[in-house]
Amino acid sequence: MIPCKPITQKLTLLLFSLTVFSGIQTYAQDGQTLFQSKCAACHNVFKDLTGPALGGLETRGPWADRQELYKWVRNPEGYMKADEYTQGLKAKYNSIMTAFPALKDEEIDAIVTYIDTEFKKPKDEGQKTNGETATSSNQNAVIFGVISLILAIIALILMQVNSNLKKMSDDAEGVMRPEPVPFYRNKVYIAMLAIVFFVVGGYYVTKGAIGLQRQTDYQPEQPIYYSHKVHAGINQINCLYCHGNAWESKHAAIPSVNVCMNCHKAINEYTKGPKLYKENGEEVNGTAEIQKLYAYAGFDPKNANAWDPSKAKPIEWVKIHNLPDHVYFNHSQHVRAGKVQCQTCHGEITAMDEVKQFSELSMGWCVNCHRETKVDFNYDGKKGNKFYSIYEKFHNDIKSGKMDSVTVKDIGGLECQKCHY
Ligand code: HEC
Ligand code: HEC
Ligand code: HEC
Ligand code: HEC
Ligand code: HEC
Ligand code: HEC
Repeated sequence: MIPCKPITQKLTLLLFSLTVFSGIQTYAQDGQTLFQSKCAACHNVFKDLTGPALGGLETRGPWADRQELYKWVRNPEGYMKADEYTQGLKAKYNSIMTAFPALKDEEIDAIVTYIDTEFKKPKDEGQKTNGETATSSNQNAVIFGVISLILAIIALILMQVNSNLKKMSDDAEGVMRPEPVPFYRNKVYIAMLAIVFFVVGGYYVTKGAIGLQRQTDYQPEQPIYYSHKVHAGINQINCLYCHGNAWESKHAAIPSVNVCMNCHKAINEYTKGPKLYKENGEEVNGTAEIQKLYAYAGFDPKNANAWDPSKAKPIEWVKIHNLPDHVYFNHSQHVRAGKVQCQTCHGEITAMDEVKQFSELSMGWCVNCHRETKVDFNYDGKKGNKFYSIYEKFHNDIKSGKMDSVTVKDIGGLECQKCHY
């Protein structure tokens, strides 16, 4: 089997370049992982938390010199003794940064690179992390798909060459063999094809079956064209004005007609905002939509004083987000205790005319966020959620440096019975 050797060599070469190629991708993410696991408990790129916002840090203090930064991160307390700038920080933040003596130079470099890229990203791009990771993993899938296809074709060609060479050498040596079978009747090829179809088909069938009853991007037509962009975006009405229940209870709830009428008794036409369009491009007359609201409210603008709010009929809004009955999800737990922004789960509502479902609401979605998200643990017993003072073990572990942050997972966010009835 001499002709086989070049094939294996070439395949190894290709596989090798594939590994190198995928290695480049992971490097950029290392900084993010390190930042999230080591620094994010006290630092954010944009906001001051326990420690200062780290965006643009190389323009401040001694940090333009990377050597100084290495020294600082590995031993803040020691560094501070001889440095006025950081003494000033300590006076301001009233807390001492944890030392990371084991972080390597490259790791600190990776963290800084991550902070820089986040800082330079346009602001609203930074918030779209959900969609971003999804598209980048999609791109990877496509790239790997194409590479596998190319590899498969090369392997086929090489096999064909191999069998031709064998035939030639057989002819030269005068060995008689049966006529070679054309490749489309070759049992080995047919078997290989069947396996490929089975695997690819099985993958898509399973994926489709898992996705049944999920409805990302679901955007039903509502009885009134009510625009979140006009209300929550342009006119900056707080989400909690209408969905105040989200702060106190399980459901965010949809406001009643009377809540709308608080403003619309006076605002009876739509003149100031931009033109409105349905998803299919049809233009919408805002003033006419407000008249629909009046029909539900039983309100006659010409005879406003005679209005009787108790005669209002509810608007039949179509519910967009629907978890199955066996799942327990509580808004106040996330919005109030967890301090998760509405937009993290619902997308840029303030830019949507008609609301559409942003997250897939799968179990993986919930669980992945619980694995990564840190809770507002009161690390020093002063700041943060007082409720967590009951987790004595974590407090001791943090003091002794065994752990530096507490995620939802640690407080039981992966336990089946917390999310399932
Ligand atoms: C336990 C909380 C905590 C953790 C974890 C932490 N820091 Fe800090 N960091 C602080 C505090 C507080 C300050 C302000 C100086 C002081 O009081 O010690 C600070 C200051 C800094 C500064 C100076 C900022 C400026 O504006 O000049 C840098 C740089 C820094 N930290 C980097 C990091 C990096 C990198 C990590 C992760 C490897 C990290 N920190 C992890 C609390 C923390
Ligand atoms: C003036 C009242 C009002 C304000 C302010 C408002 N909403 Fe709404 N919201 C509604 C109404 C009415 C509906 C139902 C109609 C629809 O789906 O568009 C709704 C629907 C929704 C839905 C879809 C609910 C479902 O059916 O699953 C989400 C999510 C939502 N709002 C989030 C927000 C967020 C986030 C904000 C703040 C950025 C906000 N809303 C501000 C009135 C409001
Ligand atoms: C951690 C993710 C998450 C956050 C944060 C979040 N929501 Fe929701 N929201 C959901 C899920 C999941 C549902 C579906 C609930 C169901 O079907 O029982 C939902 C449903 C809704 C609904 C439909 C009515 C209801 O209560 O079922 C509205 C309106 C809504 N959210 C508004 C908001 C607003 C306003 C905020 C911010 C104050 C917010 N949400 C924050 C995940 C979230
Ligand atoms: C806090 C005040 C306020 C509340 C509450 C409010 N609106 Fe509005 N609404 C406005 C303003 C301001 C405009 C824009 C008027 C303009 O630009 O001319 C508007 C515009 C509208 C329009 C025309 C534009 C569009 O979105 O299609 C409709 C329809 C409408 N509102 C329906 C509702 C409904 C339904 C509710 C209750 C769920 C509601 N509004 C609650 C202030 C409010
Ligand atoms: C964007 C991140 C995020 C997503 C998505 C998310 N959660 Fe959470 N969840 C949190 C945070 C943060 C907390 C911690 C709140 C606190 O501090 O008590 C939490 C806490 C919980 C808890 C309480 C856990 C405990 O041990 O006390 C339950 C139950 C829960 N979430 C259910 C769900 C379900 C069900 C879903 C999906 C439909 C979901 N969560 C999606 C961030 C998220
Ligand atoms: C953070 C919340 C959360 C936790 C923890 C959780 N689940 Fe789920 N689970 C969900 C949600 C949300 C769904 C609905 C998914 C959907 O509709 O696609 C679900 C669906 C399911 C389903 C139905 C199959 C499906 O995909 O729809 C099963 C079975 C299930 N979970 C079992 C478990 C078991 C066993 C555990 C413990 C190991 C667990 N779950 C822990 C949130 C959770």
